[in-house]
Amino acid sequence: MLLVGLCIAALIVVSITHWVYRWLNPLCNGNLPPGSMGWPLLGETLHFFSPNRTWDTPPFIKNRIKRYGSIFRTSLVGFRVIVSTDLELNYMVFQQEGQSFESWYPQSLTKIFGSQNLGSLHGSLHKYLKNMILTAVGPESLKKIFSEVESVANGNMDRWASKETVEMKTAVADMIFDFMGKKLISYDPEKSSENLRENFEAFIQGLISFPLEIPGTAYYKCMQGRKKVMIMLKNMLEARRAKPNKFKNDFFDYVLEELKQNDTILTEEIALDLIFALLFANFETTSQAITIAIKFLTDNPLALKELREEHEKILRKRENLEAGLAWEEYKSMTFTFQLINETLRLGNIVPGVFRKAMKDIKFKGYTIPAGWMVMVCPPAVHLDPVNYKDPLKFNPWRWEGMDLKSASKTFMAFGGGLRFCVGADFARLQMAIFLHCLVTKYRWKPIKGGDIVRTPGLQFPNGFHVQFFEKDKPN
Ligand code: HEM
Ligand SMILES: *[C@@H]1O[C@H](CO)[C@@H](O)[C@H](O)[C@H]1NC(C)=O
Ligand SMILES: *[C@@H]1O[C@H](CO)[C@@H](O)[C@H](O)[C@H]1NC(C)=O
Ligand SMILES: *[C@@H]1O[C@H](CO)[C@@H](O)[C@H](O)[C@H]1NC(C)=O
Repeated sequence: MLLVGLCIAALIVVSITHWVYRWLNPLCNGNLPPGSMGWPLLGETLHFFSPNRTWDTPPFIKNRIKRYGSIFRTSLVGFRVIVSTDLELNYMVFQQEGQSFESWYPQSLTKIFGSQNLGSLHGSLHKYLKNMILTAVGPESLKKIFSEVESVANGNMDRWASKETVEMKTAVADMIFDFMGKKLISYDPEKSSENLRENFEAFIQGLISFPLEIPGTAYYKCMQGRKKVMIMLKNMLEARRAKPNKFKNDFFDYVLEELKQNDTILTEEIALDLIFALLFANFETTSQAITIAIKFLTDNPLALKELREEHEKILRKRENLEAGLAWEEYKSMTFTFQLINETLRLGNIVPGVFRKAMKDIKFKGYTIPAGWMVMVCPPAVHLDPVNYKDPLKFNPWRWEGMDLKSASKTFMAFGGGLRFCVGADFARLQMAIFLHCLVTKYRWKPIKGGDIVRTPGLQFPNGFHVQFFEKDKPN
């Protein structure tokens, strides 16, 4: 009996040792990129998420580039990961989407975004959904919603100017959420029993957290938020089906029409996940981008001066002063677009883009084994002095005369390849119009906060509190 017990114990010890050995020395048909796998299972997760206050490339990445070069291996939340800060490899990862690499999310995230979310769908279904989104935020519809974006911005700033202080991140997020909710599902916070925004708030806090679904954890709250939103969307779907002739002319109506087609590949589940994702996609990213832009402008009076001049010139040239912004005026905002690029370059809203290797991939003498994750790391590219001189300096003028294709090797704020952000034009438009309203009508001064933390997602731990003044009124 004892012997059997000892044998079993020995077997367990041997297999655990073997497992740990394999963890630290993963199999590979070739030359694995250098790096460390960290602790068994935990990997280097804690280092990766450890907070830092710099705009620079996260120390986790920077230290490893120094030690191992531009491509290295690590392990994060139980996955084996190759981190790429190499321009050529990044390009290859984006270009080979659907072939050697595929977008892929861990189960903890697909539970949040839905198993039928856009990021987990491939091929023709992915293309079909992308086209659906483009009917809402593509070039043609942007011309239509253009003036609405302006009036929403004006309305909000008008309110801000009557307050003592405004916390920018929350205020901008509210503005964008209300606008997007209205466009997508005709959501009216005044009339709805469910506070949609609140559910999304809980949602974001849990998004990058340890995926433990137990009451009290951030992940649990996040899942609860998701469930509430999905129930609300589902009820909305039922209600609209019950009254098919009451068109609201929003994105939801369009989705319902698509669902009705008898040869459609769209399902109810995919449709609801899509609306959920779109509510989220604009809200979190664009509101960050705008907040960061205000922060950079606050710290860089010369850039603010030139921005103001560009927009005052637009007003001076305008014949009908009652008219809102015109499409041609929007297109003429050269400096504004430079400033937006610079904001996205230095702001690095997206700290990493993840893919999965579908087969063994050889690159520069290394092998990326099939099944491993690849993390493309935009900050490392945007903040490399080889690509951008004096990279930590906010310098919109550096974009002068730079002629780049929409996704160049050195600028990847919106990703690249097949999965290039479908909302990029929409995001730029919202930012530009916001800045136009801001600098033509208002001045502001920082009151408190404005410092950042990266975990590695960007946060303003103390908010960013600002006081607004009408431009021509004394304080
Ligand atoms: C400044 C604002 C924004 C930034 C920095 C940003 C960034 C990105 C990035 C890096 C990706 C690629 C993800 C990947 O390759 O896995 C992406 C994809 C995507 N973005 Fe954005 N985004 C922004 C605004 C928006 C807006 C306003 C929308 C809403 C319409 C949107 C909708 C999407 C969607 C649906 C995808 C998935 C595309 C696909 O899988 O084919 N984004 N975004
Ligand atoms: C940030 O990173 C630097 C360099 O690795 C380090 O010295 C510092 O302690 C880190 N932490 C914070 C909170 O800034
Ligand atoms: C869709 O259904 C309608 C009526 O059920 C039918 O007349 C039509 O031919 C169908 N269209 C396609 C493309 O299957
Ligand atoms: C901003 O970057 C994009 C690349 O995504 C490029 O196409 C565009 O020309 C840049 N804009 C300016 C004003 O430099």
